[in-house]
Amino acid sequence: MSNLVDIGNLSVQAGNRTLLDNVSLSIAPGERVGLIGESGSGKSLTALAAIGLLAPGLTASGSVQLAGQQVIGAQDRTLMPLRGTVTATVFQEPLTALDPLLPVGRQIAEPLRRRLRRDGRGPSRAELDAKVQTLLTQVALPDPATRSRRYPHELSGGQRQRVAIAMALACRPQLLIADEPTTALDVTTQAEILRLLAKLVADNGMALLFISHDLPVVARVVDRVVVMQHGVVVETGPVAEVFSAPRHDYTRSLVAAARSFDRALEGVA
Ligand SMILES: Nc1ncnc2c1ncn2[C@@H]1O[C@H](COP(=O)(O)OP(=O)(O)O)[C@@H](O)[C@H]1O
Ligand SMILES: [Mg+2]
Repeated sequence: MSNLVDIGNLSVQAGNRTLLDNVSLSIAPGERVGLIGESGSGKSLTALAAIGLLAPGLTASGSVQLAGQQVIGAQDRTLMPLRGTVTATVFQEPLTALDPLLPVGRQIAEPLRRRLRRDGRGPSRAELDAKVQTLLTQVALPDPATRSRRYPHELSGGQRQRVAIAMALACRPQLLIADEPTTALDVTTQAEILRLLAKLVADNGMALLFISHDLPVVARVVDRVVVMQHGVVVETGPVAEVFSAPRHDYTRSLVAAARSFDRALEGVA
């Protein structure tokens, strides 16, 4: 089966500043890939390029294929149907994905209705409501019947991220892109959301592109990592290999920092 995402020698410029330099990355169906690197290393740009959402001022060269469709230079109307069917994205701050003026249940019903229509079904209100409850149960939102009527500001950060994940799942994407989905959460909630993402990806057979600046976080949910620094891919390989024998200086420093963090945690426990 061909790759869901195939990025080959992608370079992105802002004027004469190079933001991404010859980035290559592919994701096969069902594969879980981690993209790590410090803030500003080009992780989000790489993900945005993959779904054809680079900001207008940026120019891209190279090749980006999404489910076999060339993204660079493609019209938005060609790409729109692919976002949401092939991919869905969860961002760091769930509030950016949520409408403050709508109860969260209604917001999940929208992508659900679109998908069911696409499949040739006009779901009834009752059917949509039932499916929204099922999704909220899948993302383990406590008391989903009551909470689906709440507005985003009435939920905690972790609950909002669960709602954003339910919205992404409503699309039944083949690839879930999670861009620092736990960075804004406290450590306990972060661990819960990570476990949830890992379970949902496994249960639904989805591929995952998990973006984080935090190596130990990524290592828990992916099979393979791609390490970026200053817009360049500096290392890639299976998680265990990169962890046990990092080849690049930058990756070595990430692994060393992760180890000392673990030791510090053991000291506390
Ligand atoms: N629209 C844009 N115009 C100009 N520069 C940008 C734009 N978007 C991102 N950048 C720059 O590109 C670099 C990589 O950004 P980004 O991919 O967001 O980093 P990361 O997600 O790894 O933190 C940063 O230096 C950022 O300032
Ligand atoms: Mg980013």
